[in-house]
Amino acid sequence: MTTRRDFLRAGLLVGGASFMPRWAFANDGGFSGQLVRSPFLRPFAMALPIPPVVQPVPPFATRRDVLPGTVFHEIRIRERQQQFHPDLPPTTVWGYEDANQPQARNSPGHTFVGKQGTPRMVRFHNELPADHRGFGVPNMAVHRHGGNQESQDDGFPLDIFHPGESRDFSWTDHREDERDITQGTLWYHDHLVDFTAQNVYHGLAGFYIRYNDVDTGDENQPGTTGLRLPSPPFDVAIVLQDRVFNADGSLFYDLNQHDGMLGDTFTVNGAAQPFFRVQRRKYRFRVLNGSNARIYSLALSNGMPMVQIGTEGGFLEFPLPRQDILIGVAERVEFILDFTNVPTGTQIVLENRLRQDDGRGPSGDFANPDLGVRIPLVRFDVGGPAPDNSVIPTRLRDPFPPDPFPPVNRRRFEFVRSNGAWQINDKFFNADRVDANPRVDDIELWTFKNGGGGWWHPIHVHLSSFEILRRNGAPPPPWERAMKETVLLGPGDEVDMRMKFQNFRGRYVFHCHNVEHEDLAMMGRFDSI
Ligand code: C2O
Ligand code: CU
Ligand code: CU
Repeated sequence: MTTRRDFLRAGLLVGGASFMPRWAFANDGGFSGQLVRSPFLRPFAMALPIPPVVQPVPPFATRRDVLPGTVFHEIRIRERQQQFHPDLPPTTVWGYEDANQPQARNSPGHTFVGKQGTPRMVRFHNELPADHRGFGVPNMAVHRHGGNQESQDDGFPLDIFHPGESRDFSWTDHREDERDITQGTLWYHDHLVDFTAQNVYHGLAGFYIRYNDVDTGDENQPGTTGLRLPSPPFDVAIVLQDRVFNADGSLFYDLNQHDGMLGDTFTVNGAAQPFFRVQRRKYRFRVLNGSNARIYSLALSNGMPMVQIGTEGGFLEFPLPRQDILIGVAERVEFILDFTNVPTGTQIVLENRLRQDDGRGPSGDFANPDLGVRIPLVRFDVGGPAPDNSVIPTRLRDPFPPDPFPPVNRRRFEFVRSNGAWQINDKFFNADRVDANPRVDDIELWTFKNGGGGWWHPIHVHLSSFEILRRNGAPPPPWERAMKETVLLGPGDEVDMRMKFQNFRGRYVFHCHNVEHEDLAMMGRFDSI
């Protein structure tokens, strides 16, 4: 059987390596040489879509173990026609939708809202067309990114189910150790071996929001540590995804683009540069970089600070006001925006300032990114005042307790470009080879090193989150002093992390989350033992 990887390697010989488009930004001028360019779409023409919350269904029979108190859900994975902009014909997307809430939109997928400790059984039905042509492959592996779950529930890239088949996933929000205070903004997406990039680009990604006793999801109900963060509907998850659209509205995916697919159109929750009506009060935003290869630096057009409270792995110790937030692929940031004293009628644009012209990565490096552009992502239109019982706390959590003993093991992984693809420690991904076998509950020290060549690699580890101990020999910047499960390696970067895998033994993966790099084999298997 010819795999996509063979096909792509062949493609590389026919001149892929010399194909180096400079991507331009819609609404930003400066186009030079991209093969397909999206039609111009005027910004702020559509309201920010908010995906519906997935509702419980009556218990169904399953072969999996069902814990007492389990909440059941049913998701259909379907192809749909969805509007990204009023001036653009509808776009064919693949998405995740609540089986009992048929909606016009399913990308991003419908949002799960969970409470830590509640067991959840989710049945996914693969209803994608079996005879699909074009980019993307309709065999599914669903990964709850950021979740601590059994190997069989983790979307291992070869654990797939085909069109017409269903699969049950047990997504229980287990407690990990004392460092696991929130892990509040998870997401779920397809993880099919070799085709994750195409399938995620096709639309297969959604949010999984998790609350707990500390972070209750109700600003009128302080958590056990007294937190009263802005709560729904003032707690808003947004996913940033760059795309290229053909004039007929269809998605353009470049099968010859192995460095990482960049788009020239900036979508937020499945709308091109939408607006969002806010009221004069505090909001909590959870931003996910759900792009294939683009890194962003976020800033507000009026210079207002974004008060960061968390990362993808949990809370910072203290809220941190920031002017620019660098966010790599698959990372999440949580911040509070306070519109209380902003005059009604004000328009504030969340912008991307980071210049990036190809899948290699942005210009500049981690410490000095090139903030040479201003690309509107979403405009906040400030309305009238609204009641607000939320509080920006002075402190979000206790400092992490010191480890009682030194790491029991050290591992070093170097991420390198090789033969037109990408390797970890000189090896391509092989699902049958175990690249590390950490023992559950051991504390290990892992080092990730970017092997160079100007490439950026956002590296993600499944099963448990980690703590960044050092970045290039120095303590990490304050915004990385929280639990993380994805770390951005800029050119030449070397990062040390404290790892502690918890609760489950089995096979898992770690990989570059530039999904084209992932598919071209920058992935390793580890077995927790
Ligand atoms: Cu977000 Cu292994 O994936
Ligand atoms: Cu993951
Ligand atoms: Cu990479």
